[in-house]
Amino acid sequence: MRNPIALFCARFCARFCALLCLVLALAACEQAPPPPPARTPAATDLAKGEGIFKQVCKACHGTGAGGAPRLDKPDQWKPRLAQGNEQLYRHAITGFKGAYGTMPPRGGKPDLTDEEVRAAVDYMLSVLPPN
Ligand code: HEC
Repeated sequence: MRNPIALFCARFCARFCALLCLVLALAACEQAPPPPPARTPAATDLAKGEGIFKQVCKACHGTGAGGAPRLDKPDQWKPRLAQGNEQLYRHAITGFKGAYGTMPPRGGKPDLTDEEVRAAVDYMLSVLPPN
């Protein structure tokens, strides 16, 4: 048995629902948040640190000149890494005299900012295997 009223209701509902879905989908589209900016600060800082390392630090830390621990010799860094990053930053910024030689403040380039020296240390840490 077909009830014309029920049939009408079913059709009407189907159309109405389809329309409602469409409207909701469009509304959702309009409200979709903009995609996050494609920027990775850490990578940028590492690139910056690498540049500073190559310009300033590599002369000693690439060759071992003056008793500097070489970046390609992780063993020479093990006890240093164990001190924690803050001590490494501090020694790189203010300089220090150790058992092997003298690390000049800011690698001997006084116009480097603290942030730049830290970026160079971060780059060195990123190359060394974790302790
Ligand atoms: C003139 C050579 C020289 C330059 C240039 C130099 N270093 Fe060093 N650095 C040393 C020496 C030597 C030591 C090790 C001293 C010791 O332990 O006896 C050292 C040690 C370090 C350490 C380990 C500190 C610790 O607590 O063991 C860090 C980190 C460091 N340097 C970072 C840097 C950074 C960053 C730069 C560039 C901005 C730089 N160095 C440039 C000679 C240099």
